Amino acid sequence: MDGRVEMFVFSGTGNSLLVARRVAEGLRGGGVVVRLHHLETADSAAVPAGEAGVTLGLAFPVAAFSTYPLVWRFIETLPPGNGTPVFMLATMGGFSGLLFGPMKQLLSSKGYRPLAACGLRMPSNYLIGVRPPEKCQKRLESGLRGADAFALDLLAGRARWRRFSPVPYAWVRWFWARAARSFARDGLRFRANPAACTRCGICERLCPIRNIFQPAPGALPEWGGSCQMCQRCVAFCPARAISGPRHATGAYRAVEAGEFLGG
Ligand SMILES: Cc1cc2nc3c(=O)[nH]c(=O)nc-3n(C[C@H](O)[C@H](O)[C@H](O)COP(=O)(O)O)c2cc1C
Repeated sequence: MDGRVEMFVFSGTGNSLLVARRVAEGLRGGGVVVRLHHLETADSAAVPAGEAGVTLGLAFPVAAFSTYPLVWRFIETLPPGNGTPVFMLATMGGFSGLLFGPMKQLLSSKGYRPLAACGLRMPSNYLIGVRPPEKCQKRLESGLRGADAFALDLLAGRARWRRFSPVPYAWVRWFWARAARSFARDGLRFRANPAACTRCGICERLCPIRNIFQPAPGALPEWGGSCQMCQRCVAFCPARAISGPRHATGAYRAVEAGEFLGG
């Protein structure tokens, strides 16, 4: 790989951001120019597809054996690929399910050339699978080693997008639309504890889809009906004032809130 990589990263609690940075460092070490962008604020239609020497990189978490609707939407609304090579990096707690094959189908159908895909196990930020900090640290380190290896494979042209899927993308789209409805419904159960919440507004600023709002100055934050369940609000609340549905504990985060505030 040579030329320039434009890499779009979505990360709820930091795992995908850390591995994306690690892959970027590895590629830079091999002389490749890499630019990282927050996927949630990027304009998908302005991605420089088809420009000579440009490779597209995508990094994001697995969610519900697929990924978040906001990630699918970003990819669906990319401009025609005109043969642009693309690689994908997905972080997960354990099982990627219906992601790799259908994502390859979608990108191919848009005219991109899927080069390589890598799934990296990182600490889970969901369910009861959140492990004690020392175990999380070990898993995180092994995920980062996987990112180093993936960067070397990309540089050497050894990395592949192996998975073909018997499941068509159209079916996965139906599945993720259902998951989106269930995340949105569960998201309405997030609350800020009035005794602990300092009304600092960080949850509102962190939400990747602006689903959290303060109805009046000094009021408690409220959650709208389009939550993606990415865990950011609950994981990064400085007062630990947010509680949510049963599985969203906010017990895990890999970076500090500032990584997502400031563009
Ligand atoms: C709503 C939700 C659903 C998830 N679903 C899966 C899943 O199906 N399979 C899996 O292996 N991990 C799953 N995870 C775990 C995340 O993929 C994993 O912790 C990921 O590294 C988080 O990345 P981030 O810190 O960049 O957000 C899920 C996490 C969340 C919040």
